[in-house]
This record gives sequence, structure tokens and C-alpha cells, in this order.
Amino acid sequence: MVNGDPSRLAGQCAVVTGGSRGIGLAVARRLLADGAAVSLWARDQAVLEAASGQLAAGARVSCHCVDVSNPDEVSGAADQTRSRFGRVDILVNNAGILGPRAAVGDYPHEAFETVLAVNLTGTFNCCSAIVPEMVRNGYGRVVNVASVVGKDGNPFVSGYAASKAGQIALTKSLAKEVARSGVLVNAVTPSASETEIFGRLDDDRRQKLLANVPMGRFVEPGEIANLVAWLCSPECSFSTGAVFDISGGRASF
Ligand SMILES: NC(=O)c1ccc[n+]([C@@H]2O[C@H](COP(=O)([O-])OP(=O)(O)OC[C@H]3O[C@@H](n4cnc5c(N)ncnc54)[C@H](O)[C@@H]3O)[C@@H](O)[C@H]2O)c1
Repeated sequence: MVNGDPSRLAGQCAVVTGGSRGIGLAVARRLLADGAAVSLWARDQAVLEAASGQLAAGARVSCHCVDVSNPDEVSGAADQTRSRFGRVDILVNNAGILGPRAAVGDYPHEAFETVLAVNLTGTFNCCSAIVPEMVRNGYGRVVNVASVVGKDGNPFVSGYAASKAGQIALTKSLAKEVARSGVLVNAVTPSASETEIFGRLDDDRRQKLLANVPMGRFVEPGEIANLVAWLCSPECSFSTGAVFDISGGRASF
């Protein structure tokens, strides 16, 4: 069951990057239940269309096939979203990739750059295309989906960890920049959720991931969506530049 109060975000428009599946799709579902129109930005047109069909929210959903690491594509998707819904009030930077698992000495340089380009530069590109409009409007909510790995690190995923730490620093910097404008910028740091980002998880890897989590289970995308939805709402009114833990007790700070 999806929580939601359709009057909460009525009349608002949310962009959810990586909204075609996993955590992004759960966030989209929750923001729709809260009354927002939602623009899904993701890589694969067929997956986007399937997501839009699942959401079954008709005119309140639009889909854009966009690579967030490409600033021209991001700017085009922002223009299309504005022409469809008028303005953007909420931006959830959720698009992300894990990249390879490899020791630093074996980690391909090109892959390191790609992970940073999608996870970190992609977040910057979307903020750059949308936050100035929010500032002009005097209202906006930005939520960056980082990871507990960006705070605590994990072995063999240096590109991912660095990109997520960068997202946290970008969150804090941008939040201070726009703090008096009505635009709040926060990050969430989930622990592992069993989505397609991992590919197929074998038992050994699953057990290693769970061993890190004091609560001993994966977080559900819907649980992350509930936290993100609050951060996207006017009820979140005095938190900005903050990093909200959702790691089942894993985070050490
Ligand atoms: N699943 C986890 O364990 C976990 C834990 C902490 C944080 N996160 C973060 O949550 C976010 C969503 O992850 P998920 O688990 O739902 O993964 P997922 O693989 O199921 O979904 C990723 C989404 O990002 C989109 N995407 C990937 N590259 C893109 C690009 N270049 N441009 C636009 N869209 C792109 C995909 O199309 C897809 O919609 C990621 O940022 C991830 O780092 C995930």
C-alpha cells in the first residue's frame, strides 16, 4: 500500500531522475499519491513506458529519455517538462549507477569517470537546469539520493563511494547558496535495497551486504520514498543541507 495525501502536493510538479524503476519509481508513485504531477527522466524508453503504464496516473505523468550526464539533454528535458506542467517545484536526483567492483589498482579509469559523470555531474546538471527557476519562484525542494556508502565507504566500489560523497558535498554547498530563497536542498543516504542496480545478487554477496546492516535486512524502496516525500513537501521547512540516514543503523555518523 502506498501512503499519501492527494492534497499535500496538489498543483506541484516533480522531476524524478531514474524514475523508471527501483527507488525512483517508488518515489514517483508516492509523489503521485501526494497529488503532484511527475516527470520521469531515465535512460531506457521501453522501461520508462512500462513505468508510466504501471503508475496509471494519466495526464499527471510525463516521461523523458535522458542521459543526466549530458547537460544539453538535461536542459531539453527541463524545457519539455516546463512546457507540459508549467514549472518545476520538486527535483529528486535519484539516477545512478554502481559501476564495476574492483580494487583501486584494477578499476578502469574510464569507468571511474563514467560513474562520477552519471551520479555526481548528473546531479549537478539537473540542479543547474532547474534550481535557478525554483529560486525565481521563491520555492523549491531538492532531494539528492546519495548512499550510506558516500559516508562510510565500501571496499571495491571507489567510484561509487566517491560519487556519493560528492553528492553529499554538493547538497550542502547548494543548500547554503540558496538558503534564503525558499529552496531547500537535502540528501538521503540509504543502505542496500534489493533493486536492479546490483544486477543478480548471489547468496554470498547478499549475506555480505546484510552483515553491514544492524537491522539485518534490505531497505524497501517504498520506505525510502516515504522519507523523500516528506523532504519534498512544505512540511519540511527548516532542514536544508542535511543528510537523512535510512540505513537500518549502519551509518556511523
Ligand atoms: N539500491 C541500493 O542499494 C541503493 C542504496 C543507496 C542508494 N541508492 C541510490 O538510489 C538511486 C536509485 O538506485 P536504484 O537502486 O533504484 O537503481 P536502479 O538500477 O534500479 O535504477 C537506476 C535508475 O537510474 C536511471 N539511470 C541510470 N543511468 C542514468 C543516466 N545516465 N541518465 C538518466 N538516468 C539514468 C536508470 O534508467 C534507472 O531508472 C541511485 O542513485 C543509487 O545510487 C541505491
